[in-house]
Amino acid sequence: MSIIMNEYLNRDRLQEAIWFSLKKIDFAKETFKTTFPDHASVDNVYPETENVKGWNQGFWTGMLWIAYELTGNEEYRKAAEMQIPTYTKRVVEELTVDHHDMGFLYTPSCVAAYKLTGNEEAKKAAMMAADFLMRRYHEKGEFIQAWGKLDAPDNYRLIIDCLLNIPILYWAAEVSGDRKYDETALKHFNTTAVHIMRENGSTYHTFYFDPETGKPLKGVTAQGASDDSCWARGQAWGIYGMMLTYKYHKSDIAMERFKKITDYYIGLLPQDYVPFWDMIFGDGSGEPRDSSAAAIAVCGLLEAVKYMQGEERKKYLTYANKMMASLVDDYLCWGVDECNGLLLHATYSVPHNSGVDECNIWGDYFFMEALIRFVTENKWELYW
Ligand code: GLY
Repeated sequence: MSIIMNEYLNRDRLQEAIWFSLKKIDFAKETFKTTFPDHASVDNVYPETENVKGWNQGFWTGMLWIAYELTGNEEYRKAAEMQIPTYTKRVVEELTVDHHDMGFLYTPSCVAAYKLTGNEEAKKAAMMAADFLMRRYHEKGEFIQAWGKLDAPDNYRLIIDCLLNIPILYWAAEVSGDRKYDETALKHFNTTAVHIMRENGSTYHTFYFDPETGKPLKGVTAQGASDDSCWARGQAWGIYGMMLTYKYHKSDIAMERFKKITDYYIGLLPQDYVPFWDMIFGDGSGEPRDSSAAAIAVCGLLEAVKYMQGEERKKYLTYANKMMASLVDDYLCWGVDECNGLLLHATYSVPHNSGVDECNIWGDYFFMEALIRFVTENKWELYW
């Protein structure tokens, strides 16, 4: 009997979803050998891209590592390893490394390679990525700047997504023994935890500081509907991100923020447990969904229940099961042959009119992560 799956999620159905997803990956890996799926699909087909810009290549390599872990099949390991030199080249030649997404890029790819196989090249590349991320830390304000030139007043801000970038610093501290990585990540985390959440548990996407004094200024959106709304994927980054720092530091504020952010999120979910792209939209709005937010949230909930008991554990576990059942039944691209992704109906950015109601590669990655979490009874060792 499963301690992680309840009546909402059927084990056979989950297994079918795994085999189906692996078949899709088998098909996609014929195309993406040392190239990568672009961040979002076009008509449900990912265009090919190189590992020279953007923030999303690591997710494809991460999917190959999860496929390897699920099956033990060396073909997946070889496919993932074939991509590692592109990550080395990227940090050595400094190809678009001036942003905070070094964790998204290097954790599911190179940190995973090192953790699973002891790959030294991958370890070195990931350590270099961690060093690039460290350079973006500002003492004034105590945060890691997400985008743009350092100190540029219009970019003197942190963003909620970075909660998933800082685990590479926790990892770097562990493997190097140098506490500076951990201290910096924790300072950034605390600044985020204090400022990114509103009283009601909703979150800002980005938060500005005064470049002269470091004083907190205001929350502003980049990918949400408005500055005072709540971007659904941002909320999901908050759910999982709080737990990733909790994993390393067991900090009270991380757990407290996790519960408030999650309760706000689940309180506004539509009937099928997959949010629209901004939490202001509900059933009947006709707005696009973001299935990737749901996949991220499932991983966050499954991480959280490791530290919970009784009714509280049951509550979050039940939501994780319901969300996953909905993704498996209604969002996985069953029967859509002309699709090289996994989850339909994800949304990258409505304000930028980019990747709306498409597959996106992090949605696919976190769906695979959710699958392996369920099938291993939540014993899967995290790459993060
Ligand atoms: N980290 C960028 C995004 O979630 O769109």
